[in-house]
Amino acid sequence: MSLKNRRACGLLSENNIGETIKVSGWVNRRRDHGGLIFIDLRDRSGLLQLVFDENFSDFTIVEKLRNEYVIEVEGELRNRSEEAINDKLATGRIELVGQSIKILNTSKTPIFDISDDTANVDENVRLKYRYMDLRRKEMQDNLILRHKVTMAMRKFLDLNGFLEIETPMLGKSTPEGARDYLVPSRVNPGNFFALPQSPQIYKQLLMASGMEKYFQIARCFRDEDLRADRQPEFTQLDIEMSFVEKEDIINLVTDMIKEIFKETMSVDLADSFPRITYKEAIDKYGSDRPDLRFDLELIDIGEIVKDTEFKVFQSVLKKGGTIKGINGKNCGNILSRKEIDGLTDFVAQHGAKGLAWIAIREDGISSTIAKFLSDSELENIVKAMDGQIGDLLMFVADTKEVVNNSLGALRLELAKRLDLIDENELNFVWVVDFPLFEYDKEENRYVAIHHMFTAPQEQDLELLKTNPLEARAEAYDLVLNGTELGGGSIRIHDYNRQKEIFDLIGFSEEEAKVQFGYLLDAFTYGAPPHGGIAFGLDRIIMLMRKCSSIRDVIAFPKTQSASDLMLGAPSYVTEKQLKELSIKSDLKKDK
Ligand code: AMO
Ligand code: AMP
Repeated sequence: MSLKNRRACGLLSENNIGETIKVSGWVNRRRDHGGLIFIDLRDRSGLLQLVFDENFSDFTIVEKLRNEYVIEVEGELRNRSEEAINDKLATGRIELVGQSIKILNTSKTPIFDISDDTANVDENVRLKYRYMDLRRKEMQDNLILRHKVTMAMRKFLDLNGFLEIETPMLGKSTPEGARDYLVPSRVNPGNFFALPQSPQIYKQLLMASGMEKYFQIARCFRDEDLRADRQPEFTQLDIEMSFVEKEDIINLVTDMIKEIFKETMSVDLADSFPRITYKEAIDKYGSDRPDLRFDLELIDIGEIVKDTEFKVFQSVLKKGGTIKGINGKNCGNILSRKEIDGLTDFVAQHGAKGLAWIAIREDGISSTIAKFLSDSELENIVKAMDGQIGDLLMFVADTKEVVNNSLGALRLELAKRLDLIDENELNFVWVVDFPLFEYDKEENRYVAIHHMFTAPQEQDLELLKTNPLEARAEAYDLVLNGTELGGGSIRIHDYNRQKEIFDLIGFSEEEAKVQFGYLLDAFTYGAPPHGGIAFGLDRIIMLMRKCSSIRDVIAFPKTQSASDLMLGAPSYVTEKQLKELSIKSDLKKDK
């Protein structure tokens, strides 16, 4: 067996008819027609039909073949007979007549059918036998696209003068952000490294080092609660540039995204992507990553019902809360009473205490709250929400946060139920003008929305002193179809400004020195103005391939409970290892 003369199954064509050809790969399927056996041979490039008839000297070997056996075959390529042509297959008009065969390895009966789409196979089984799952065409195509996209990113950034620079995996644990993954240091007992949540500080230090334009395809680690689009270990395309303003970065990475889609999927995106302010996104869509493939805007009816008799609305407004509604177009006709109750349970999962509704029917209004509202209130609500016959107007009254979260989620749910989403649309939007801070009630302090190295907007500097929550950040997120693909900001490069921000989020001078003294120092030795962005590579590929989870575009992902089912990691380690690391564990070893 050797690579010499080996040909790729999927790349052979009628141009090769009559040639003697060697192929190797996996038995995808064997069909036994008595004196004639057909094998679909699979390699990374695709499938090729092999034919062996009973006069073939090694026919007994062919009879032994089972799915997933690894074989090497040499033979002559010929046209298939008319009735055997399969136009769904790239090689559906040709076949290889076997003249020699070697079994390179056998296989036990596969746990699941590789040639099938495995929608019916439990994902945990796929993850445990990942090397088999990855043999499936769909998974191979995911990883092939991922490769192409990273190549296109590297090419684009190289052409634009960026340097690819690696930064350490063993770093320092820092406050804020997600929980760190810690790595004990053997030679410094009791001390720990942290795996990077992102290369943020290193890339800023690279700007202070005069590298001007940096990128890295960087592995990041965050010990946070997992979801379909979150992994504990994931990959960022991380970018940082010196001497730039927001527009430079937005323009550059818009061009990069366009180039990637063009080069890897032959898709032409618009010249530029629309922008929406954070405030507008929250007001209209209840989310800072709005899915703009459909409308279904949230409408504030607080003003209309400000003098209402309805106790629920009254008390919410009195406490400074918000009342917003959403018009489920035609839902009054489609949804049963039970389904509407189901939506009440749905918003309850997002914190809402109830879902008031008004159904506009041919014969008048049916509603849980109409009896509490005056005729003019009712009329103005219907008007403000453009209510037509058949529509179902739904309302949540609560704190601003609960209203936006619950109605934002309801908006997505309704879009699915009403089939409003065009799955082929690629809807990019830049979200800009984020606030710098939000208030953490539990900790009783401001926390940075993006991160604490983000620069405030020039015109809002005064607000830092008077009303920090109103100050906007020089930050931007790129959102695609309701998923945050990437986010970044212009950074602070001034010692005093950085100290002011540390101060606002409650770092004492001492703490700031211990945690980030090196960064503050760097600012005092001529750090240039700089800014950057990081994209979630896994998320980009997930959306490009229309996968429902980033696990499908990562070769060896973790489960929702952050474990690797194939390796059985994380796992207990020996007492000896722990002792060397000066770690004591009270937890008993699992059998
Ligand atoms: P941020 O935390 O917004 O910014 O992360 C940037 C992008 O990384 C992706 N991402 C994730 N993908 C998969 N699993 C996760 N757990 C996960 N967490 C984040 C998202 C996100 O938009 N240093 C800054 C960037 C900067 O300011 O330049 C940062 O890490 O797509
Ligand atoms: P009640 O007077 O509590 O029976 O509520 C009357 C209607 O208002 C019911 O349909 C409730 O689901 C709805 N409702 C109660 N609380 C809220 C709320 N916070 N926001 C929206 N609707 C509510």
